[in-house]
Amino acid sequence: MEGKADYLKMIKSNPKVEGLIIATKENLDFRGFNAHGFTHANFVANETKRLLLELGYTAKAAELAAIAGYMHDIGCSINREKHAAIGAALAFQILSETGMPVKDVIRIVSTIGNHDENADGLPINEYCAALIIVDKCDIHRSRIYMDEARKDNPHYKVNFATEKREIVIDTKKRVITLALTMNSKASLFEMMEIYSGRFQLCQTSAKMLKCEFKLLVNGIDIMSVTGCRRAE
Ligand SMILES: [Fe+2]
Ligand SMILES: [Fe+2]
Repeated sequence: MEGKADYLKMIKSNPKVEGLIIATKENLDFRGFNAHGFTHANFVANETKRLLLELGYTAKAAELAAIAGYMHDIGCSINREKHAAIGAALAFQILSETGMPVKDVIRIVSTIGNHDENADGLPINEYCAALIIVDKCDIHRSRIYMDEARKDNPHYKVNFATEKREIVIDTKKRVITLALTMNSKASLFEMMEIYSGRFQLCQTSAKMLKCEFKLLVNGIDIMSVTGCRRAE
């Protein structure tokens, strides 16, 4: 960052950002999605920052990516569809008001605007690649609440069955591993049916970071077992 301004801290205490994240959570709760509030925003910000730092990127790159991570889903406050582009436009205005250098603002909004694979999103740069990996890896029972009406829904079942998720970074071998601990409440088949496309995007994103992406479920290398590793 230029100067000593702590833009991440500034964004986290910004009432507009706070209001947009609250609205994002409420809108997606209403639509039955998993939780997209402050916990998800902080998880993506913190883990994206850690990923880039551990892979040797600069503190500034990690900080900008963390800001993108914190704000990446704010577009859902308006609508889930096209939320990446909407969120980028919202972030452009808010970030511009902080005095952040324009080139940094543009880097962040480009990252936000390309994080959603359902809206033509791609890992267009290292920031976006790291954010996409972390965002897709946030699978955990804390993100959903289970009730009778949802007990047979594979998406809820998989999240509910995931007791632990950890992103492990082997900096020497340059391997990024999502290690999941799942109980028997959901099957691997159900998980891959929902997430295989997202894990393939994680593989593509890892390549941008000159890494390999692996998925371990209860210690088993799932991507090689299922053949997903061959896909581009
Ligand atoms: Fe998103
Ligand atoms: Fe997200």
